[in-house]
Amino acid sequence: MNILIVGSGGREHAIAWAVQKSPLADRIYCAPGNAGISEYASCVPIGAMEFEKLADFAEENQIGLTIVGMDDPLVGGIVDVFENRGLRVFGPRKNAAILEGSKAFSKDLMKKYGIPTAAYENFTDPEKALVYLREEAKFPVVLKADGLALGKGVLICQDLSEAEEGVKEIMQDKKFGTAGDCMVIEEFMTGREVSVLSFVDGKTIRPMTSAQDHKRAGDGDTGLNTGGMGTFSPSPFYTKEIDDYCMKHIFQPTVDAMASEGRPFTGIIFFGLMLTQDGPKVLEYNARFGDPEAQVVLPRMKNDIIEVMLACVDQRLDRIDLEFEDNAAVCVVLASEGYPVQYQKGIPIYGLENFRGKEGYYCFHAGTRKTDEGFVTNGGRVLGVTAVGKTLPEARANAYKATEWIQFSNKYMRSDIGKAIDEA
Ligand code: AMP
Ligand code: GLY
Repeated sequence: MNILIVGSGGREHAIAWAVQKSPLADRIYCAPGNAGISEYASCVPIGAMEFEKLADFAEENQIGLTIVGMDDPLVGGIVDVFENRGLRVFGPRKNAAILEGSKAFSKDLMKKYGIPTAAYENFTDPEKALVYLREEAKFPVVLKADGLALGKGVLICQDLSEAEEGVKEIMQDKKFGTAGDCMVIEEFMTGREVSVLSFVDGKTIRPMTSAQDHKRAGDGDTGLNTGGMGTFSPSPFYTKEIDDYCMKHIFQPTVDAMASEGRPFTGIIFFGLMLTQDGPKVLEYNARFGDPEAQVVLPRMKNDIIEVMLACVDQRLDRIDLEFEDNAAVCVVLASEGYPVQYQKGIPIYGLENFRGKEGYYCFHAGTRKTDEGFVTNGGRVLGVTAVGKTLPEARANAYKATEWIQFSNKYMRSDIGKAIDEA
């Protein structure tokens, strides 16, 4: 079967790596892909939002399964376009991808179906939001732009003046565009964060092993929010007991709620959870693999990814059991100094060949470009270096060892990815 992957980041590189292991995969394509993905897939110069062109390509190249990695095309309805043309595609339809596409929708869904999450109110009128903040809110408070904002539309405000500034940014100045037409004001929660990614076929859900992301740019969780500076898997804080609770009160109820609403969800649901003193609560839903969560979860998965995805598309996931290696993985993101604000691109990268033939070590490309002279940097997050180990500390030591194999002059990384596991 020929496979088309839609996306261009480290996550799609990890998906392409998992796909090329499958005996079911013949030719693998990635649109638009990146310089690293071309190791496993032919990169096709079609943008992820060019749905009709992508569908034309799928028809012309006898693609048996298209895998959509990114949120934008899913929320924009790529799956509906493919399905209407009789093409097999892995991901939620537009009416289900709204689970990620609208935070107001997902909060209302959780409230209606009793799924644990932070208390909240939705606002479309900035004046009403300000009155609420002045008269009712407890601080710190969390403001969230309703729509997609590259993970940046969440503001944690310590006091009223910060919150007033936040309302201005999101709803009045439209810093995140139309994503700020509606805004959620949410109770601030404390606890450990865990990401649980799961396969879903509309009815059945199969959670993958847990992971934890490090979203802030600096060591000790300081600095600005980023797309993610590193991950580890599994999370030692996510116990069997917590998993059972989540299955019963969060995971299956979410899938059932979407089905009851006439929006059956097929694809990946990513549960962003906070393990609070009152139990696990949902921080957010995503409708796709996490980036860089995929880079630690997929290297640990024993199943054939194509087999699992086809089971989702064909609604027979109940016959699949997911299996993960009894090991651990850590991914350290190598970024360009200055990310996420301002940074230089086009810097030569040395040492990529060091990963060749090293089992258990992976170098997933996020922002790189191939030139006649070799690979150069082409983004804020440049590479994701993943290593596995028998235990988390071993995986962590391996990953940091492998970060030394790569050199570029403005290389920046956090030095404490996975450090929290020492407390477990
Ligand atoms: P989200 O995009 O909704 O996951 O939010 C991004 C980050 O903001 C999360 O990973 C949390 O670290 C933080 N965050 C979001 N909502 C809350 C909340 N209600 N309480 C505390 N932190 C939050
Ligand atoms: N790593 C967080 C995300 O993919 O949304």
